[in-house]
Amino acid sequence: MTEIQKEIIKLKEEKNALILAHYYQTMDIQEVADFVGDSFELAKITQKTEKPIIVLCGVRFMAESAKILNPAKTVLLPASDAGCLMADMITPDDVIKLKLEHPEAAVMCYVNSTAEIKTHCDICCTSSSAVKIAKSLKEDEIIFIPDRNLGSYVAEQVPEKTFYYFRGFCPIHNVVSADEVEEAREKYKDAPVLVHPECNKEVRDKADFIGSTSAIFKYVQDSKKSEFIIGTEIGVVERINKLMKGKKAYLLSTHLSCINMKKTKIKDVLNALKNLEEVIELDNDTMEKARITLERMVNIN
Ligand code: 13P
Ligand code: SF4
Repeated sequence: MTEIQKEIIKLKEEKNALILAHYYQTMDIQEVADFVGDSFELAKITQKTEKPIIVLCGVRFMAESAKILNPAKTVLLPASDAGCLMADMITPDDVIKLKLEHPEAAVMCYVNSTAEIKTHCDICCTSSSAVKIAKSLKEDEIIFIPDRNLGSYVAEQVPEKTFYYFRGFCPIHNVVSADEVEEAREKYKDAPVLVHPECNKEVRDKADFIGSTSAIFKYVQDSKKSEFIIGTEIGVVERINKLMKGKKAYLLSTHLSCINMKKTKIKDVLNALKNLEEVIELDNDTMEKARITLERMVNIN
């Protein structure tokens, strides 16, 4: 452990704080976290902790979700400019327009969205919960926002319903190409290809497994194989290679590094704990409306 990591652990105990990290954080941050997980697990675990301070090492929508689900707690986002490119693609007017076009449809919102967008929706989902949630809805029509790739993946798993999409996407996952899958298969012949549902359809169709960051991690953990081609952010590859002896993960594409996830540096985690910043603050009305959509998601699971 480095000096700064030791200082963080000491301070976290003194302040009675919980540090959560998404898989896409760098390993030095994952190492000081109390829990590392996918978006759904991070949202769920915040509801179980007694700790008054939550340091969310990830991007803004994750910290906002933690605050919305736990309004009495102090939620800190160590890098205040860590947004999500997909979350920023959609505006409330876009959602209102889709609702007017499809008045009978339920609005299902990927958690990678701002708190304000969530207030216009019926229910949230994460990549690991989206199929289950779509199946559980009583409506036969679903407006899926903002990710058209995750939306089309869910629609393939739930063919009995009609889906309408927004044009959003994750610029990091969306640029991975089917050619890159073929090149990687050629190079690592025995390795299965595991991809995130934010990848485009051509890539998903060539994969052996499609799942959330945690689902990909667990697939590798449970597999008897020793090599894997990973079609999600490099943080997952680093975690597998660090923690799983005898297994080797290869990154499917050099594009798979999220600029926003990498904005958090270990010194920012220390600073967040020392100075209690940046504190996530949302107005009560937004929190109350957005909470309904997030709680529905957590309760269905
Ligand atoms: P997960 O819910 O699978 O962790 O994904 C979050 C994300 O931002 C993927 O780009
Ligand atoms: Fe957002 Fe894409 Fe980064 Fe995930 S990888 S946080 S969807 S920009």
